Amino acid sequence: MGKVFVLDHPLIQHKLTYIRKQETGTKEFRELVDEVSALMAFEITRDLPLEDININTPVVEDAQAKVLTGKKIGLVPILRAGLGMIDGIIQLIPAAKVGHVGLYRDPETLQPVEYYVKLPSDIEERELIVIDPMLATGGSANAAIQSLKTRGARQIRLMCLVAAPEGVEEVQKEHPDVDIYLAALDEKLNEKGYIVPGLGDAGDRLFGTK
Ligand code: PRP
Ligand code: URA
Repeated sequence: MGKVFVLDHPLIQHKLTYIRKQETGTKEFRELVDEVSALMAFEITRDLPLEDININTPVVEDAQAKVLTGKKIGLVPILRAGLGMIDGIIQLIPAAKVGHVGLYRDPETLQPVEYYVKLPSDIEERELIVIDPMLATGGSANAAIQSLKTRGARQIRLMCLVAAPEGVEEVQKEHPDVDIYLAALDEKLNEKGYIVPGLGDAGDRLFGTK
């Protein structure tokens, strides 16, 4: 079964509180999501492999130093709300390629509807991070992960700001090979499929559409 990591760094937790607050406006919401995403990327990449190389410094020749090695990273935001997390992550991983999966959740059935997929051509060779602020029923994340697997992806992690236990369980059931990284694991879903206490509709709050 995939592991669940709740990234409890104090800066992440502090900023997440302001993201959640009802009175936080679009501009501040966007800036905070950007900052938390960068902090989360810092934590998620903690286990990336390193190799030794030899370099010249201004002081000595042939000093041993470390650089990243292994699989290259691919970031896959789920449209729309996943877009809000991309800039913060790219600041730390500027060489990452970015694919997009467009999904919306049908308001009646809560089932995900796919409307767009565009991915780097070499996804099978990349370590992919699927990005979405919200993991509610898990339908959207599961559909995005399945879409990537169908196109050849082999190594996938999922990164969300806030999750409901129901969504985590669904992803673990359907994709036991995928580890999940969260800023918070909330209490539950309400009858409309919103995360409680959550932060509301992430896409609307990011893009000011409500
Ligand atoms: C939101 C969110 C996730 C999805 C989570 O997107 O960004 O993609 O809901 O819900 P689930 O786990 O129950 O599938 P939404 O469908 O509102 O689309 P949007 O990003 O375009 O606003
Ligand atoms: N999508 C959101 O944007 N928020 C929720 O709480 C659940 C799904």
